[in-house]
Amino acid sequence: MHTFTVFAFLFCYGMADHDWWKKSIIYQIYPRSFQDSNGDGTGDLQGIESRLDYIKELGVGAVWLSPIYKSPMKDFGYDIEDFKDIAPVFGTMEDFRSLSRAMKQRDIKLLLDFIPNHSSDQHEWFKKSLMKQEPYTDYYVWADAKGVDDDGKPMPPNNWKAVFGGSAWEWKEERQQFYLHQFLKQQPDLNYRNPKILQKCDNILQDVLQFWLDQGVDGFRVDASPHLFEDEQLRDEPLKEEGKDDGSADDDDYGKLDHIYTYNLPQVLNVLREFRILLDHNSVNQTKIMIVETYLPVDKVMDYYGNKTRSIAHFPFNFELITSISHNITAAKVYNIIQTWMEHMPQDAWANWMVGNHDKSRVATRFGPELVDAMNMITMLLPGTPVVYNGEEMGMEDTDISWRDTKDSAGINAGPTKYKLFSRDPERTPMQWNSGKNAGFSTANQTWLPVNPNYVSLNAEAQLAAEWSHIKVFKLLVAARKAEAVMMGKLDIQVLKNNLLVFTRVKEGHPGYMVVVNFSNKTETVDLTKMAHVPDISTVYVFSITYAHQFSVRSRISNKDVTMPGIGGLVLMFVPQLSDYKVPIPL
Ligand code: GLC
Repeated sequence: MHTFTVFAFLFCYGMADHDWWKKSIIYQIYPRSFQDSNGDGTGDLQGIESRLDYIKELGVGAVWLSPIYKSPMKDFGYDIEDFKDIAPVFGTMEDFRSLSRAMKQRDIKLLLDFIPNHSSDQHEWFKKSLMKQEPYTDYYVWADAKGVDDDGKPMPPNNWKAVFGGSAWEWKEERQQFYLHQFLKQQPDLNYRNPKILQKCDNILQDVLQFWLDQGVDGFRVDASPHLFEDEQLRDEPLKEEGKDDGSADDDDYGKLDHIYTYNLPQVLNVLREFRILLDHNSVNQTKIMIVETYLPVDKVMDYYGNKTRSIAHFPFNFELITSISHNITAAKVYNIIQTWMEHMPQDAWANWMVGNHDKSRVATRFGPELVDAMNMITMLLPGTPVVYNGEEMGMEDTDISWRDTKDSAGINAGPTKYKLFSRDPERTPMQWNSGKNAGFSTANQTWLPVNPNYVSLNAEAQLAAEWSHIKVFKLLVAARKAEAVMMGKLDIQVLKNNLLVFTRVKEGHPGYMVVVNFSNKTETVDLTKMAHVPDISTVYVFSITYAHQFSVRSRISNKDVTMPGIGGLVLMFVPQLSDYKVPIPL
């Protein structure tokens, strides 16, 4: 039996308003797929505004919008043509202001995606850089050819690969040089060694941040942050050690190389620190937050928090529940992930948990639909902020997309035989609002990606109307996060009976919460009084929809022998047995 207790993050005082980002869940909206308002088959800002009551009803207090900026959409907005304008497909600046006002009226915070590593090749900076027009000449990473190959073609400066396949270098006749692109060739990397990109008084990216802060946004999710710097000497990257590559077959794949010269260079943190300083300057009345995207081992991710005297991110994303477990999820694996994150976090840092996003397969597909509620129980009731990708509240599943319908360049670049390994289209299909045309997402005859055919039964309207559903469970979990014990209580976590994960949240003077998840497909009977502070009796708070025949809300159960059917989760409330104080029995 494993056991682990965390005290480090205990607070003995309530949370202030400026801690909104700790109290609220963060709901990620992928704008192309959320709601179409004008019938063109693609989601837009007015569509999002029309769905704010749903978001509010879920209990969401903060929304992160994936990119909405003007873009040729080669990487669906992560290739920006104008950092200070809205893509016409999403609407206008006026639509943005209207959305932002409507969110403020509902007390929902707004976070934008900020993409500092690259722009689109259609950005005027790149066009001018290509022509060596000052001051743009060195805005991007340009390098001479290493020589010419047997066919007389210029050879790239080194072996660096792009995340989306092929060389990370693209030749430009006009300049007789290669430029670097760590993602698509239409996403040239900005040159962070050029002081213009990050010089205190004349800083093009801080200027972008300030522009959106002046529009009233509450923070940013910083895209692809470890990619900001590359080795100045442009040294070749070594192959990954045997067994450590990602198993992809081609030597040409990004996953084959150990990215010691293009990823997580020490200078990255200095740039992020500058962004943080700017946000802090803007945080006089209300905290403006910075979350960073870093796919790294946990000990390295922690550097992105900074420390007490030099804070960097409010938190770096915790991708462990996505990247460290593929399909065979077990209680021990989840336990290890939680323990590792909590143990490595710097003192006073704040955790976060996510199980899905627009780049990764959906939870119901990865772990099975039976675990949807249980995974939400874990992410919602652990200490820290949950980040939820739109559709996960109702257990949306990956959609099978044909080669012909494939839109994601990461899939297209891989070709018809391998596209399924790389395409992110399956997790990006339209939100399933109801059982009407296109699941209520759009009135168009064709939507930008097909709607998952399971929308007829799997949709928000049906789940809101049903007696018990993923959304109903989700709403109760969000509501539970208001409890003092969930927000600030001690965490005690154990693996019981091989494949049961159990954790409690306890704060003196308040009702305690206990999450019990059975990851095995066998029924298990467990004695929950083995957990510290757990008395003989609990009250059922919420349970997986697969447990609907077993439990009922607000009923009392004996903790000594709780029978957990195969695969599912249960949340109990209890009166913690601490010293001599008494709290009211939760009803
Ligand atoms: C991030 C985004 C991903 C995008 C990439 C390049 O990883 O999440 O969607 O393609 O950055 O900007």
